[in-house]
Amino acid sequence: MSDETTKLDGPDFGNGVALSTVVDGAMLQGHSQGEPVLLVRRGDEVFAIGATCTHYDAPLADGLLVDDTVRCPWHHACFNLRTGEALRAPALNPVTCWRVEQCDGTVYVRAKRETVSRPQSPVAANMPRSIVIVGGGAAGNAAAEMLRREGYAGRITMLSADESLPCDRPNLSKGYLAGTAAEESNPLRSAEFYREQGIDVKLRARVTKIDSASRDVRLEDGSRHGYDALLLATGAEPVHLDIPGADLPHVHYLRTLTDSRALVTKAMKSRRAVVIGASFIGLEVASSLRARDIDVHVVGRETCPMEKVLGADAGQFIRKLHEDHGVTFHLGTTASCIDEPGVTLQNGETLPADLVVIGIGVRPAISLAEGAGLAVDRGVTVNEYLETSVPGIFAAGDIARWPDPLTGERIRVEHWVVAERQGQTAARNMLGRQERFDAVPFFWTEQYDFGLAYVGHAVRFDKVEIDGKLDARDCTLAYRRGGRKLAVAVVHRDVEGVRAEVEFERAIAASR
Ligand SMILES: Cc1cc2nc3c(=O)[nH]c(=O)nc-3n(C[C@H](O)[C@H](O)[C@H](O)COP(=O)(O)OP(=O)(O)OC[C@H]3O[C@@H](n4cnc5c(N)ncnc54)[C@H](O)[C@@H]3O)c2cc1C
Ligand code: FES
Repeated sequence: MSDETTKLDGPDFGNGVALSTVVDGAMLQGHSQGEPVLLVRRGDEVFAIGATCTHYDAPLADGLLVDDTVRCPWHHACFNLRTGEALRAPALNPVTCWRVEQCDGTVYVRAKRETVSRPQSPVAANMPRSIVIVGGGAAGNAAAEMLRREGYAGRITMLSADESLPCDRPNLSKGYLAGTAAEESNPLRSAEFYREQGIDVKLRARVTKIDSASRDVRLEDGSRHGYDALLLATGAEPVHLDIPGADLPHVHYLRTLTDSRALVTKAMKSRRAVVIGASFIGLEVASSLRARDIDVHVVGRETCPMEKVLGADAGQFIRKLHEDHGVTFHLGTTASCIDEPGVTLQNGETLPADLVVIGIGVRPAISLAEGAGLAVDRGVTVNEYLETSVPGIFAAGDIARWPDPLTGERIRVEHWVVAERQGQTAARNMLGRQERFDAVPFFWTEQYDFGLAYVGHAVRFDKVEIDGKLDARDCTLAYRRGGRKLAVAVVHRDVEGVRAEVEFERAIAASR
């Protein structure tokens, strides 16, 4: 978060600014009553909203104005200029709205406006009286919150196999593991929040069966929960490495807050780590362990990390980035066994390790869906409204395979923002809104002081165009297949990333 001095940059809007200095279609950062405020002019109208994103405090002035919305430069949250509402995740809270007065060519920012909460809608005859959400992660949490924001007054039960309340999973391999983010940064919401919202969250509540005929779910402990509408948001599970020693106590996987806490505790006492898997998670873990001054070796089957997702140039850059930070790679191989002194590779080499982290990918948790007879295809098959093959049962997040409006192909992604946005759309559709899920996939990664944001989805590409220089950490990479742009990655060009998202959104809208 920017410090107090930066936050109060610019003019004091309480004293007024000349309308002529507020350029139409531009954003002006200033402050009022000690708080940072963003002034935005659209034609004759002037809006004033909180200047800081409610997700991770990005300065919204560095973002993009799109119609009546402001897009956050960092992880592409979207706020309504008129109401302050967080229209799209990852921001879950609105920004403050201020009353604006124009007088003799001067604009004044006055008092804060009350947040307008939507009225509770009575449970209509065709509305579900009870909604069960299986999964307390990104999608499940976003769905539960959105149901209440939409005024749903019926029963919401969130069943989560996790031991803790929905948490900020991306933080687990980044700030929290590196020791730069506190424990308090992990929960998305407090227990009190769920109580106040009337969301009944049950933890350590693993669902073992869905009975779509009797419309209930059964838990491990034998209890049952009936539903009128059901959201499946069971996420993904780490792929386990099946080699001798993979179950030793110093071998860790990373998915849940419990996993992360155990890893942090172990990292505090470790000097040498081996990370098996040069995936995003593996590389973020490597970066965070280096921040703790642990000697890190990364083992991967690929010859160039991240090449499959980002292309050879970005892959080589990422490899060098890690090497410059002291990481040693062992590529084109994998581990054949783990024991107390270290990890033995297939090529016979042994790497000493008092900590081993396995990050070789995840698998969508679809066994419940399979058991219930839902259509599955390497994920739970859903239509454009995120409804599964069984009416009344929706799926969102890492498990959902949906028709990508950009390419017409069915895709499944493992991205935080997509999971949250799908949870939000599924919530509205459980209330009968019939809203297509047409958000453009987005993810980001942070490793050391390097950040990359990616929009679109190019599972296969035949050409990568680079504008700018990776080495200078100032570039845009466009991924094409058959000449068609499918995805864009930006390195330290935040607003370009937002522009790319908007460009894809417009292409989708135009294709309808
Ligand atoms: C360490 C880490 C870092 C990441 N960093 C990034 C990042 O930087 N950027 C990015 O875009 N993405 C990132 N991701 C991916 C992102 O977190 C996932 O895409 C996202 O969490 C998916 O949300 P979800 O709701 O589908 O699943 P999850 O968030 O995994 O939630 C699944 C929930 O389902 C519950 N569950 C599963 N089975 C059952 C059952 N049978 N009964 C009851 N509950 C069940 C689980 O307990 C859990 O509560 C990261 C993931 C991890 C693990
Ligand atoms: S800081 Fe704004 S979306 Fe993350």
